[in-house]
Amino acid sequence: MSKIVLITGASSGLGQAMAEFLVQKNFKVYGTSRQPKTSTKNGVILKALDVTKSESIESCIQEIISESEKIDILINNAGVGITGPLEEIPIEKAKTHFDTNFFGTITVINTVLPYMRANKQGLIINITSIAAHMGLPFRGFYSASKAALATITEAYRMELKTFNIQMTNLAPGDFATNIAQGRFHAPLKKDSAYHDNYKLSLDLMDADVDKGNDPIILAKAVYRIINQSSPKVNYKSGAFLQCFSVTLKHILPQKLFEKILLKHYKL
Ligand SMILES: NC(=O)c1ccc[n+]([C@@H]2O[C@H](COP(=O)([O-])OP(=O)(O)OC[C@H]3O[C@@H](n4cnc5c(N)ncnc54)[C@H](OP(=O)(O)O)[C@@H]3O)[C@@H](O)[C@H]2O)c1
Repeated sequence: MSKIVLITGASSGLGQAMAEFLVQKNFKVYGTSRQPKTSTKNGVILKALDVTKSESIESCIQEIISESEKIDILINNAGVGITGPLEEIPIEKAKTHFDTNFFGTITVINTVLPYMRANKQGLIINITSIAAHMGLPFRGFYSASKAALATITEAYRMELKTFNIQMTNLAPGDFATNIAQGRFHAPLKKDSAYHDNYKLSLDLMDADVDKGNDPIILAKAVYRIINQSSPKVNYKSGAFLQCFSVTLKHILPQKLFEKILLKHYKL
């Protein structure tokens, strides 16, 4: 019997690439969207799920369990971006951001866990970001939401050890997807004290995503993790320098690393 995979946010970008790649590898793949346009696409079974609505999560997972009896692998990929000067982002927007990237993901995990426990095994892959490993200027809330997810994964792993349920983080660098269009952008205000620096960083961020890697690279990284008997806590996938920046953060003096980031963002 094929393994059952659930991928949140599979309507575009990385989620879609992973879902379609795993179908080719003979997994039975459920992918989600807040509003799926069709019931299947390229072999992926599409279900409605909004990570910010617990009743939507519950009914999606119930449907999968009644059709397929179990979920072997959960990939928490649904996520959004947020940019802006930390001082100017309305706190309600920041909370909404955390509702999607952090609390929404936790709700999906906690809804799936009883079924994995009953099945005496499971693998959960949380899609974080290289930005989780460092606070990036004008992307502070994004870094923080992904860092929160990466850190709670460490705690989950230890709590879940006795149930044979494994959890890991996969941190992508920049990949060419729709993420920039779906982001909340704090407006660039002419009279803002941050205007010039924010504009420079915004242009650079959008250019980085546009010239980002092909999502198939991340799909292959997910497949390699699935084939590990005992996955590590953290994986990275992306351009060499972006992945290497995480290593540099750990080995360089903090202020030197900060200088490198400031130079990169022309600040
Ligand atoms: N692209 C990159 O460079 C990059 C880098 C690091 C990390 N990531 C992470 O990778 C993941 C995928 O991003 P992507 O780049 O592929 O962006 P994307 O193309 O914009 O895809 C985002 C996915 O998340 C879903 N989604 C958004 N809000 C949701 C909600 N409230 N409930 C359920 N699903 C929701 C969207 O589905 P619907 O709109 O159809 O509901 C869509 O399928 C995200 O977690 C992102 O933070 C991306």
